[in-house]
Amino acid sequence: MSSPESNSTDAAKRRAAVWAASQIEDGMAVGLGTGSTSALVIEEVGRRVAEGLRIKAIATSEASQKLALELKIPMSDFAHLPELDLTIDGADEVQEGTLYLIKGHGGALLREKIVAMASKKLIIAVDPRKLVKTLGAVFALPVEVVPFGYETTIKRLQDLGFESELRVTDDGKPYVTDGKHYIVHCKLPQVGFDAYEAAAKLKGTVGVVEHGLFLGMASKVVIGGLEGIEVLE
Ligand code: 5RP
Repeated sequence: MSSPESNSTDAAKRRAAVWAASQIEDGMAVGLGTGSTSALVIEEVGRRVAEGLRIKAIATSEASQKLALELKIPMSDFAHLPELDLTIDGADEVQEGTLYLIKGHGGALLREKIVAMASKKLIIAVDPRKLVKTLGAVFALPVEVVPFGYETTIKRLQDLGFESELRVTDDGKPYVTDGKHYIVHCKLPQVGFDAYEAAAKLKGTVGVVEHGLFLGMASKVVIGGLEGIEVLE
């Protein structure tokens, strides 16, 4: 049986997801995110498509692509759709007052960032648990790395001051992304943390493909609540 807390979190996610999906207009090219909140967005988009909404979409993961196709959402790719009007995605953390994000605990940060960068607008749908004072307060930062030499990449991330460990599956094997990379979880320092400085250090590390800091990218964050929604911009 699900707890009252998980019921209220699910309801909050759904409220945020439904509002975010309501921002899609007829004829738009849309990016579809990854994770449980994004799955609710995709469900709502599917419902609107069944009612006649005409869009084309690009998904940020194989899982979201599969769900979207099941719901008969017309899917495309960057060869046919070089620019997107709007992407809707979730986040692991949103830093209050900045709209800086940590993303990637669903393992999709690389495609999520590529899709977000190709979008005119990025709306992030979350429940209230995702709001933090400083990024890294709850979640480590996912960093996508090339499998070759990941041990030495982790060592260099540690030398840069990030306590780092490889993400593994329940059976102890490295977690592999859709892009066939590994994920390293890096703890972010909570005192004197500078998000742009951290992003530059991570980007400059050989072996790192991309990191889950999304800075200056979100146009709006919609937070679902018990009663309704709040939109930060
Ligand atoms: C996937 C992500 C997700 O958006 C993030 O993990 C939030 O997921 P959920 O909506 O399930 O809490 O970044 O890589």
